Amino acid sequence: MAKYVIQGGKRLSGEVKISGAKNAAVGILAASIMTDEDVLIENIPDVWDINVMLDAIQVLGAKVSRIGRNTVKINSKDANVTELSDSKLGKMRATYYFVGALLAKHHKSKVIFPGGCNIGARPINLHLKGFSALGAKAYEKEGYIITEADNLKGANIYLDIVSVGATINIMLAAVLSQGLTIIENAAKEPHVVDIANFLNSMGANIKGAGTDIIKIKGVKKLHGTNYSVIPDQIEAGTYMALATITKGDITIKNIIPKHLESISAKLLDCGNQVIAYDEALRVIGSDDILPTTIKTMPYPGFPTDMQPQFACTLSLAVGKSKIEESIFENRFKYVEEIKKMGAVISIEGSTLIIEGVKHLEGKKIIAPDLRAGAGLVLASLAANGESEIDKIEFVERGYEDFVNKLKELGANIKKVDC
Ligand code: EPZ
Repeated sequence: MAKYVIQGGKRLSGEVKISGAKNAAVGILAASIMTDEDVLIENIPDVWDINVMLDAIQVLGAKVSRIGRNTVKINSKDANVTELSDSKLGKMRATYYFVGALLAKHHKSKVIFPGGCNIGARPINLHLKGFSALGAKAYEKEGYIITEADNLKGANIYLDIVSVGATINIMLAAVLSQGLTIIENAAKEPHVVDIANFLNSMGANIKGAGTDIIKIKGVKKLHGTNYSVIPDQIEAGTYMALATITKGDITIKNIIPKHLESISAKLLDCGNQVIAYDEALRVIGSDDILPTTIKTMPYPGFPTDMQPQFACTLSLAVGKSKIEESIFENRFKYVEEIKKMGAVISIEGSTLIIEGVKHLEGKKIIAPDLRAGAGLVLASLAANGESEIDKIEFVERGYEDFVNKLKELGANIKKVDC
């Protein structure tokens, strides 16, 4: 167990290089078991969730060779195991991608029910609905997701809620099925597109990823590939919010600016300058953070995964802001923590009403989940005095080298064992 000790109140400036996208990499790793040939994946972030996925791939019987910190080679020729039951896997969300991948390759799977950040009910009914439409038996039993099928046949699947996880999982299962699958009302997040591109680089036939209709023509077999994961949209957005809350000047490198448009738009509303380059963005924080109104939405809308970082930032705005959370019903657990630091925030249903204050004060606080933890780190870096943030293992599940990257920008932060 460790905590962060932060001395806040400094303007942070400099350059930061963004790592590979965690939420793309987890899907790509699961998909890598669908071929018997070698798969080389670059730009994988070295974070807890990824390392758990790699352990799971080995449990399935695949050979995993770490070629460098961010590159891995996987060979699944001898991977015949179809059950994953380690309780560590039940602590993260993305292990459910093994259900789609195993169902596609072996026509059966038994995977421990996924956990992940406690930000709402997070049902998997749409995943099961998709697998069933493809002709599988798919159900939850005694803490497992179980699937089996004689044959998988393409189908038309309408998702009545836009779900990143269900879109990706159905795509995985459909890639090796017979005939055409059409997913309507599909999620359009950059990582959905990246996983589709990865599968296509293995010989899959997926069209329309990035729009709300994805068409998958089943193929008989997938082959090996070399692939590099896209940069992490949410890690980049977090450093953009950091420039704002510390009134600093940060250039965020190795990104795809297009993926950050909804975040850039809000930062402009807040009075910042945002300068876009081909693969970088520079955010120059305004001396006065202006208040704004945000509603979280599926991509290309404002991401729910940036909601806590923005709420923390707007707690220092000159006036009243509102943030409506429309994706997850329990994503405000950090509000009690930032209120200890002097923020004035009230919760009305699914909306936060944030009355900006002049200063936050450093305090002992707890990170309740990954993005909330990141938001509290930002608040602590902007606050007067010292903060201690406990339960930082949540934060380190998704941010590679967080402490070092922050120190490079001038932050006074250290990780201390406790
Ligand atoms: C993914 O979660 C991400 N996780 C989350 O990132 C992210 O917050 C979320 O998408 C939204 O962008 C990974 O990629 C591993 P959903 P996921 O299915 O797939 C409802 C982070 O901090 N729903 O898009 O679990 C659900 O309750 C994390 O990196 C159903 O009703 O989210 C929610 O209201 C946290 N039935 C909405 O859909 C289902 O079967 C969207 O959830 C599935 C989802």
